[in-house]
Amino acid sequence: MSKRITHCAKYTAAASVLKAWLLLIAVLPALFSSCTRTTQLKETSQRGYTADKAMVVSAHPDATRIGVEILRKGGNAFDAAIATQFALAVAFPAAGNIGGGGFLVYRQADGSIGTLDYREMAPAAATEKMYQDAQGNVIEDLSLSGHLASGVPGSVAGMFETHQKFGSLPWAELVQPSIELARNGVVLTEKEAAGLNSNRERFIKYNKHLPYLTNENNWKAGDKLKHKDLARTLERIRDNGRDGFYKGETADLIVKEMQRGNGIISHQDLENYTAAWRQPITGKYKDYKVISMGPPSSGGVALLQLLTMVEPYNLSKYGWQSPETIQLMVEAERRAYADRAAYLGDPDFVKVPVEQLLDEDYLKDRMKSVDLARATASNEIKEGSLPVYESEQTTHLSIVDAAGNAVSVTTTLNGSYGSKVVVEGAGFLLNNEMDDFSVKPGSPNMYGLVGGKANAIAPGKRMLSSMTPTIVEKDGKLFMVVGTPGGSTIITSVYQAILNVIEHNMTMQQAVAAPRFHHQWLPDEIQHEPKAITPEVRAILQNRGYKLQERGTYGRVDAILVLPNGKLEGGADPRGDDKAAGY
Ligand code: DON
Repeated sequence: MSKRITHCAKYTAAASVLKAWLLLIAVLPALFSSCTRTTQLKETSQRGYTADKAMVVSAHPDATRIGVEILRKGGNAFDAAIATQFALAVAFPAAGNIGGGGFLVYRQADGSIGTLDYREMAPAAATEKMYQDAQGNVIEDLSLSGHLASGVPGSVAGMFETHQKFGSLPWAELVQPSIELARNGVVLTEKEAAGLNSNRERFIKYNKHLPYLTNENNWKAGDKLKHKDLARTLERIRDNGRDGFYKGETADLIVKEMQRGNGIISHQDLENYTAAWRQPITGKYKDYKVISMGPPSSGGVALLQLLTMVEPYNLSKYGWQSPETIQLMVEAERRAYADRAAYLGDPDFVKVPVEQLLDEDYLKDRMKSVDLARATASNEIKEGSLPVYESEQTTHLSIVDAAGNAVSVTTTLNGSYGSKVVVEGAGFLLNNEMDDFSVKPGSPNMYGLVGGKANAIAPGKRMLSSMTPTIVEKDGKLFMVVGTPGGSTIITSVYQAILNVIEHNMTMQQAVAAPRFHHQWLPDEIQHEPKAITPEVRAILQNRGYKLQERGTYGRVDAILVLPNGKLEGGADPRGDDKAAGY
């Protein structure tokens, strides 16, 4: 924080000389306030949990514990990622899953990098207008809740594929701890008990049987939730690998569940599901190399667009929470999300102009219309004209093993507890990821995101995501592993976590805990956590034409920072029950 402290000292001195004047001027009180705030941050947020060699940061203490046990047994970061994901499917059913999908980004100790796409796919019977009525109106809730909301799950295929390529311990050893957790039961935290209780009516509405997630007397912290059916499903996965999910009894139970509702996932859809290794999106921010997820996630492209657009400006000099830093970041966000809506989709179906979207001159040009005296209006911004070349509830986990391999995984059911449908007899929730498609051009999804043709529904297509599992290198060495849930806010949360460390000298824990703001082009407003924008800066921004919308807390950024002495610092988001541990 030293740079920030210097600024603070300067402003504090100026403030004492001109105290009477300053009270009359709008801008300086804001700077003064931003200094006070930074000092408070330093005092209240210390460095996060540190470990010498290896670390897991995830959304649940049981999942983190299981991941660390695998690392201690000699498993590598990939083994730990697989075991942690299965454990999250048991301990954190709001988002951890085997009925959803996700993305994995890795960087091995030798510097080699790659990504795995195990995003859900639209079933073969899906159609472009399946969520519209005869008049072309979007049918409320159809893409969000119930059997028709689910894409073909990808998580088990993703984990199995990861193991085939990189696993070092036997598959069964990675699944077994979760079977035991499911059978012995998970002790509910206050947040989980509240999450389950608040979804009680929906669980009952969308399930023909009384799902195990409901409790007549309401759940409370300390209760034990046992997952007997899920334990049996996990045993089939342990014994038969991917076939334990996509074929045989589990597949039969999924298809039966579909038939109980209005679902369309068939045996053929399950058998045909494949995870895909894809080229990572890479780019530079100053001395740092950023490695992130490409389409069908919009995360990597948008993150690199954002970083490239603000790189020419001296954000650290403007200071964290200053109006200028917020404005520049927001103006970049407005422009990146306009591009996202127009150009991004599943690369197996549409041509995504990645290179052009990341072109430095193009991005410089996009920022030319920024005027710090006034907000750009979103209706003045459309997607950019790309240069012509010759020749689109979640949970995140970050892992580094003792050899220096790093894995960054974000996985999701989409909404909290997905479609709310529990596969009867198999004990797991199905996703409601179909809502991430553009169900009608220009019609906002549950995160307010709009899209068009590039993200229209088609059989076998993957819906555009915002998930942004990311790894950052500095000077050719591992620097940071980072990611978060949060729907459309994922990209901007990862963006802020990275800039908080690089530009504002925060520790990893501070960067993760710091309050966040977000702009996604449409709606044209800066959404922000209560403490992200001070009252003084709020007044300045409003005066410059920005609309501000305070919202509750969002995201759960889980990250690892490699410290100059080689130790690892975990950033476990205090907004959840997230936990960093290692050795
Ligand atoms: O893939 C996406 O972008 C969304 N389905 C992610 C959903 C999410 O992060 C929900 N968590 N808060």
